Amino acid sequence: MFESIEVAPADPILGLGEAFQRDPNPNKINLSVGVYKDERGQTPVLECVKQAEQRLIEQEKTKSYLAISGLAAYDSFVQQLLFGADSPLIAAGRCGTLQSPGGTGALRVAADFLGQRVSGATVWCSSPTWANHPKIFEAAGLRVANYDYLAENGRDFNFDGMLAKLRQVPAGDVVLLHACCHNPSGVDPSLEQWQQIADCLVERKLLPLIDFAYQGFGKGLEDDASGLRTIASVVPEFFVASSFSKNFGLYRERVGALTVVAADSSAADAVMSQLKVCVRTNYSNPPAHGGAVVETILGDPALSETWRNELTVMRERIHEMRQLFVQRMREYAPQRDFSFLLQQAGMFSFSGLTPEQVDRLRDEHAIYIVRSGRINVAGITPQNVEPLCRAIASVL
Ligand code: LMR
Repeated sequence: MFESIEVAPADPILGLGEAFQRDPNPNKINLSVGVYKDERGQTPVLECVKQAEQRLIEQEKTKSYLAISGLAAYDSFVQQLLFGADSPLIAAGRCGTLQSPGGTGALRVAADFLGQRVSGATVWCSSPTWANHPKIFEAAGLRVANYDYLAENGRDFNFDGMLAKLRQVPAGDVVLLHACCHNPSGVDPSLEQWQQIADCLVERKLLPLIDFAYQGFGKGLEDDASGLRTIASVVPEFFVASSFSKNFGLYRERVGALTVVAADSSAADAVMSQLKVCVRTNYSNPPAHGGAVVETILGDPALSETWRNELTVMRERIHEMRQLFVQRMREYAPQRDFSFLLQQAGMFSFSGLTPEQVDRLRDEHAIYIVRSGRINVAGITPQNVEPLCRAIASVL
């Protein structure tokens, strides 16, 4: 039977990480997968995580199964980070949250629910979007379509195009939105634009599914939630798939959450009960460790403070690298303006490099970038910025 199985293509993002590991070039540079690196090019375990893990080693009493929805206190912390501790949504019992294996796991649970419970819905994704988004929805049997997001120059926000498209989407369809730090472009709506998006979603009776994987990497924990909270203030029903991979540096622990907001608490309970069926028939219940680490940190004021400080350091380092990159490119390729990178937020930027230029960077300079031209700005360091910019200038 297996003789007829064709080899699948490598994943466009994680496959590059594997190719990078195999590359023997000592000067190789990896700007592909969205992982934070410090100024020495390392992805460190955060100090708050180390301290929380130490506590868990000393205090953990069991490795028995978690509930299908995970750790209750963790789920409550997730809601507070999303909506604010005083949110009326939380007070009214309109939210339900389940701990999931990463943001990807949350998206897949939402996709399974939509595929099984919302007949015939199409999921509308921004063009471009994270390369895995359409695959997750298609794997759950959903149809995927696109709305405009970037202007033809590949770097400005085509807000009018986005809104015009959303106004044509049939009622009952699902709209995938990036809460902040749009992946892959780093281009986010302003608060006024979020307001218009939210009004359009209500008017057209569309169901938002909000991917929130980079809270704290744009402007800060609260500011980055402002688009989501604008939607929450007017749209009666929506999903949020959130992740602690990046902001707690817990990538391999697979720690995320799916939150549903419904018009009232009984509707939220009903959706949660169906989401639990989706989980039980997929991975049964979530892994404990990453969730326990986050719960320990957020439940302790001193550890929380350490975490917020460490997150600020990560965000500011990325911002500094954006500035350094733009400055160096001005020297190495004065004919090409890269200053648009300064307007973009989060880990990623759409560099405007073509797939051919990206291939040359890999083959001639051992520099790994996603073929769409997306660069992980967090992979730039004071050491690699010179060879990186020189190499980019040589392929322009
Ligand atoms: C990325 O976009 O690079 C990250 O979200 C990691 C991933 O799983 O693709």
